[in-house]
Amino acid sequence: MSDMYAVFGNPVAHSKSPQIHGMFADQFGDDISYERILAPVNDFPGSVRTFVRHGGRGFNVTVPFKEEAWRMARRRTARAEKAGAVNTVTVEEDGWLTGDNTDGVGLVRDLTHNLGWPLRGQRVLVIGAGGAVRGVLTPMLAEQPKLLVVANRTADKAARLAELFAGDGAISGGGLDALVDEHPFDVVINGSSASLGGEVPKIPAGVIGAQTRCYDMMYGRSETVFLRWARERGAAVCADGLGMLVEQAAEAYFVWRGKRPDTAPVIAALRTL
Ligand code: ATR
Repeated sequence: MSDMYAVFGNPVAHSKSPQIHGMFADQFGDDISYERILAPVNDFPGSVRTFVRHGGRGFNVTVPFKEEAWRMARRRTARAEKAGAVNTVTVEEDGWLTGDNTDGVGLVRDLTHNLGWPLRGQRVLVIGAGGAVRGVLTPMLAEQPKLLVVANRTADKAARLAELFAGDGAISGGGLDALVDEHPFDVVINGSSASLGGEVPKIPAGVIGAQTRCYDMMYGRSETVFLRWARERGAAVCADGLGMLVEQAAEAYFVWRGKRPDTAPVIAALRTL
C-alpha cells in the first residue's frame, strides 16, 4: 500500500497540495497518496482519527484548523510551539501526533533562496498580526534583520506579537497609522488577509521606495491587489506567495520522508496551470 498523506481544511477543494506532493513524489519515485479531506468545522479531531485509523502517515493542515491541530498534537517542535499553529503533522509509530510548522521556513526560503532577497541586516515591514504572521516570525527573526516592524489595523495585536517575540530579535509592533513617519523599508511583506476581500490595508505610501521589495503571502491567478498597489507606488520588485506554498510543502515532505524535493520545477509547473 502506498504511504498515505492528506491535507485537512474547510474549504479545501482549492488546495494545490495534492499536485505539489505528487510532483515531489515523482522526483524520487516514491509511492505515496495525498488527498484533500474536507473536515467538518466542528469535528476536525474526528476526521483526523479516521485518517489515522486508516493508516495515514502524516498530514497538512490549512484554514481554519491550524490552531486546533496545535492543541491536538501531543508533541510539538520548537518552531510550532512558538507559532501557536501547526500546518504539518507526523503520525508516529505509536499513533501519537507530532505537530510542526513549516510556513515560516517556507517563506524565508522563498525570499532568501528563490528570490535572492536577503533579510539579514535589512529593515523589514510585515503587515498583519493574525495567525499567518505569528506563524512566520521565529524563522524570519532567525535571519537577523536589522529591524522587523509588525504593523496591523488593530495596533495592540501587533504590539502583543512584538512582545511575545522580543526574545528572538529586533522586533517592534503597532498600528498601520504609526508608519506615516517611516522612510521606505527594504522589504515589505503582506501577511494580512485583506487580499481575500479584494482590499489593501491602509498602509502609508511612504514605506515603499524605489529599493523596496514587496511580497504577498497570498497568491492568485492574477496579481494580488496588494502587489498592484505596491507596483503602482514604484516598488523595485514584487512577488506573490506561490513560492512560499511550495517551499512549506517541501519542508513538510522533508519532515515526513527525510528527502528534500527540488522546488524550482514545481513552482514553474504551477505557474503554467
Ligand atoms: P490569518 O490566519 O490569515 O492570519 P487572522 O488571524 O484572522 O487570519 O488575521 C487576519 C489579519 O488580517 C489580521 O491582522 C487583520 O487585521 P485586524 O487584526 O485588525 O483584524 C488583517 N486584515 C484583514 N482584513 C484587513 C483589511 N481589510 N485591512 C487591514 N488588515 C486586514
